[in-house]
Amino acid sequence: MSRSQGDAPSATTSFCPVPHKLRDQVWLAVGTAVGAAAWALLSDRLVSHNVGSPDLVSAKEDETHGGNTVSVQREAMRSSYWQQDLNYGDLIKSIVLAQKPTVVVEYGILDGFSLKLFNRWSPPSCKISAYDIFDKFNGNAAKRDQLDATFSGEKKITIGEQDFYDAPDHLEDGSIDILHIDIANNGDVYEFAVTKLMQKLKPTGILLLEGGTSERDAVGWMKKYNKRLIRPYLDALIKKGEYVVTTFGKSPGLTLIQR
Ligand SMILES: C[S@@+](CC[C@H](N)C(=O)[O-])C[C@H]1O[C@@H](n2cnc3c(N)ncnc32)[C@H](O)[C@@H]1O
Repeated sequence: MSRSQGDAPSATTSFCPVPHKLRDQVWLAVGTAVGAAAWALLSDRLVSHNVGSPDLVSAKEDETHGGNTVSVQREAMRSSYWQQDLNYGDLIKSIVLAQKPTVVVEYGILDGFSLKLFNRWSPPSCKISAYDIFDKFNGNAAKRDQLDATFSGEKKITIGEQDFYDAPDHLEDGSIDILHIDIANNGDVYEFAVTKLMQKLKPTGILLLEGGTSERDAVGWMKKYNKRLIRPYLDALIKKGEYVVTTFGKSPGLTLIQR
């Protein structure tokens, strides 16, 4: 079965109605990262950190700016996270460092941008299961052979073929620290994740979803394929008050949902 189209950049600034420890930690870490980037820009040493093009030259290195080591990944990989309103790489890195996960599950791998970050910044004991439907996706799909080659030596990672919509039958309740969902998300994907998969998280676990902003809802393929908007769903969820919902950035935006 083919799943619907679209890998898209884009997205709202959002907010969280309740103060929350992890959110504060993440903001602190993001603040540190932003401070390091500002220092680097001022001193004219920042070349390009996730600067918005998927066809960047291939290279990977760490740079030290004012005592902070900043991950620089200028790799030729497709990802909607290569956008400029926020350094999504540093944001995901900060979330992983704050959460110290031992179990990460991802749906939607593409070229492995987020998977690399989970692998790189999680503790050595972490188990990362990454799933995709590969060529069954009618859009910007992951290539199994390329991913196997890229991640073959990585002991923490298991890559498998599994449909996100089958996740309720496969994932164990109360078992996951970070569940990342990035499958050309729309409002229906969000609702499915919240209603069927929140129970798969540990009590301190995080559901992490690409998108969640009105800018992201405005991307062409959402309208073209008549996809349900994410932001109105999130606003209604926030009103219910059952979960802590925090959305970072604009395009594509990244949303955290926690108990
Ligand atoms: C936006 S890309 C993932 C981006 C990636 N996480 C990153 O950091 O760049 C979407 C991926 O989701 C996969 N996908 C689409 N529908 C899916 C589904 N129902 N279950 C699992 N994977 C799916 C596609 O094959 C594609 O590789």
